Amino acid sequence: MRTKKYVIKEGGKYVPSKDMKDIAWVSDDKIYSDAKKDPINFWGNLAREGLTWEKEWNQTYEEKLPYFNWFKGGKLNFCVNAVDRHLDKGNKTALIWVPEPINEKPIKLTYAELYDKVNKFANVLKGLGVKKGDVVSVYLPLIPEALVTMLACARLGAIHSVVFSAFSAEALKTRILDGKAKVLVTADGYYRRGEKSELFGKAKNAVKGTTIEKVIVVNRIGKRIFGRKFLDFDEVLEKADSYCKPEIMNSEDPLFILYTSGTTGRPKGIVHDTGGYAVQAYWTSKWNFNLHDDDVMWCTADIGWITGHSYAFYGPLLNGATTLIYEGAPDFPNFQRWWRIIEEFKVNVFYTAPTAIRMFMRVGDKHLKKFKMDSLKVLGTVGEPIDKDAWMWYFNTIGKGRCPVIDTWWQTETGGTLINVLPGVGPFVPTISGRSFPGTKHIIVDPKGQEIQKQGVVGELVQVSPFAPGMLHGVYKNHSKYVKTYWKSFKNKYDTSDGAYYDNGLIRITGRTDDVMKVAGHRLSTAELENALNNHKLVNESGVVPIPDKIKGEVPVAFVVLENSKDGSEKLIAELKKHVDLAIGPTARPELIYFVSDLPKTRSGKIMRRILKDILNNEKPEGLMTLVNPEIVEEIKMVVANHLSK
Ligand code: WT7
Repeated sequence: MRTKKYVIKEGGKYVPSKDMKDIAWVSDDKIYSDAKKDPINFWGNLAREGLTWEKEWNQTYEEKLPYFNWFKGGKLNFCVNAVDRHLDKGNKTALIWVPEPINEKPIKLTYAELYDKVNKFANVLKGLGVKKGDVVSVYLPLIPEALVTMLACARLGAIHSVVFSAFSAEALKTRILDGKAKVLVTADGYYRRGEKSELFGKAKNAVKGTTIEKVIVVNRIGKRIFGRKFLDFDEVLEKADSYCKPEIMNSEDPLFILYTSGTTGRPKGIVHDTGGYAVQAYWTSKWNFNLHDDDVMWCTADIGWITGHSYAFYGPLLNGATTLIYEGAPDFPNFQRWWRIIEEFKVNVFYTAPTAIRMFMRVGDKHLKKFKMDSLKVLGTVGEPIDKDAWMWYFNTIGKGRCPVIDTWWQTETGGTLINVLPGVGPFVPTISGRSFPGTKHIIVDPKGQEIQKQGVVGELVQVSPFAPGMLHGVYKNHSKYVKTYWKSFKNKYDTSDGAYYDNGLIRITGRTDDVMKVAGHRLSTAELENALNNHKLVNESGVVPIPDKIKGEVPVAFVVLENSKDGSEKLIAELKKHVDLAIGPTARPELIYFVSDLPKTRSGKIMRRILKDILNNEKPEGLMTLVNPEIVEEIKMVVANHLSK
C-alpha cells in the first residue's frame, strides 16, 4: 500500500493534501465562520453530539464575570463518558502502557478491563469515606493505576489533585494542605533511566501533619510498605466490589484541581469543572489531531501536568480511542526508544514538547534512520514556542514530510488547546500556532487594552467572551487570586500573560510576559524559586531570572545574597541546588548560582530582574536611574564575567 502523504506544498506553503482532506473531521474553514455566528449554540451542539448527558442543561452559557458557567442544569458523569459508553466496543484497547525496563512486557487494558478496575477502585475510595466533592491527592508516576485512580475519583464525583511525581515532599505537602485531602494515592517508586526512583519515602514525609488518613500505595518497584496508614493498591482492589454506581454531577461541579505556578511564591490550585472541560477535551482531541476511535494516540506528557490530563488520558478516552503512555526516559536505554514504541504500537497521533524535539535533533538523525514510522498521521507540539529549526526537523525527520505539525497553544488554566490550525484546514507554518479554536476568540491588545490589528505588532494575548468551555472555574478557595491574576489587567478580557502578534492573519506566540519561565516546557515562577532559596538559613535574599538554553528552552539562574555578607563556595552552590530539589523538585534546580553582595533594586525595594537578565545576556542594562543602588550593576557584571572566564 502507498504510504499516505497528508501534507503538500502549495504556493510556498504546507497545506493538507487530498489524503488528509479525505479523512479529516474538519476540512473546510467554514467551520470558523459558522461557529462565529453563534458560538454559544455552536458549543451547545458540540456538547450534545460529543457527550452522554443524564439530563440536558437549561442554560447553555451564563456569564457573571469574572465567573461563567457552561451547560447550567446539565447533569452527567465524566467516567461514564470516558469509559462506560465505550463498553459496546467489545475488547477494544483503551490504554497501552509501556514500562521503562525493556525486559518488562507492555500492558494493554481494554475498555472492559479498565471499567472493572475503575469500578473497584471507586469502591475502595468510597470505603475509605471519600464522597462527592472531597479532594483526593494523587502522587503517581505514569503507570496504569494513575488512570484508574483519576477515573475512580471522577466516578464518585471526588476531585482529584495530581501532583507531579518529580516534585518534592514539601511541594506535595503544600498541595495536600491546600486541598485538605484525606486520602493519598501513590506508588513505592518508578523506573527512570534504569534506576529505581523512590517515591514512598517522599510521600511518607509529605503526609506528616496533614489531613491524610490513608495512603494507598502501588507496588511498582517491590519496596516493602508497612504502617497502619498505608494500604497496598492491588490488595484493596482485589477485595472490592466490582460495580460502583456513578455519581451524577452538575456540569459545573469540579472534576479536578491542578496546581500551577504564577507570579507569586505559592502555586495556585486551578479548578476545572466537569461538563465544559469534557466538551473541550473531547472536541479538541478529535479535531486537532483528527482522532478517530481506531487511532492510537501518544501524548508524551506526564499526568503531573495539564497536557497529561487532557491528552494522555481524558481526550483520547472520551473519544473511545486508544491512548499510549510510557513510564520512562526518552533516552533509555538509548535514543531509539521512542521511535521503536511508535513503530511497535503503530502510533497514529504523536504529541510532544519542543524541548524533547530539540534534544533528539541535537543527538542526530542516525538514531532514526531505520524507522519508517508510517503509521503516523498527525504530529503535535505544545508547551513553549517552537523555533523554525526544531519545527522543520520534527516535520521532516519524524513526520518524513508527510504529517502536519500542529502547534497548539494553551495553558493549565484553559483546560484544553485553544490556538492552533486544524490538520484538514492548515496552513502549517513553522513557529505559528494559528487561529482560535472554532467558537473561541483571542485578540491582541496594547497595555491599555486597545485591540491591535496590525500585523507584526506584539501585544498581550487575551481571550474574549464567550469564554471557552474548558476554562478554569476559579482558583481553589482563592477568589482574590483568581481576579488579580486573570481579570485585573484588562476589563472583561481573560489575560493569558503571553505575548503574541499576527503573521498573515495567524497568531504567533512570543512567550510569557510575566515572571514565569518555561524550563523544558515546565512552568516555574521566579518568585517560587526565590522563596525556596530565601528559606535557606544562609541566604538573605535572591533574584532568579531565566536564560535561554538550547534544549530546555530556558533555565533559571540565581543571584544570591548571603547573610552577614558571607562569601559563597562551590560547596554552598551544591547545597543550595539540593535545597531547591527538596523545596520544589529537580525541575526547578538553578543552572547557575552567583553570589553577589546586593541585588539591583528600585526605591520601593523591588528587585529589577530585567537588569539581571540584561547582564546575563551581555546587553547594556537600561533604566539604571530608577535604582537605589546603581553601583551594584558593575559588581554583578564582574561576578558574571569572572565566572565565564573560568
Ligand atoms: C504556557 C502555559 C498547555 C499545556 C502545557 C503548558 C506556553 C504553551 C505553547 C505554544 C508557545 C506555548 C505559554 C503558556 N505555551 N503552548 N504552542 N507556543 N507557547 O501549560 O504549564 O500551564 O504553561 O506555556 O507561555 O502561557 P502551562
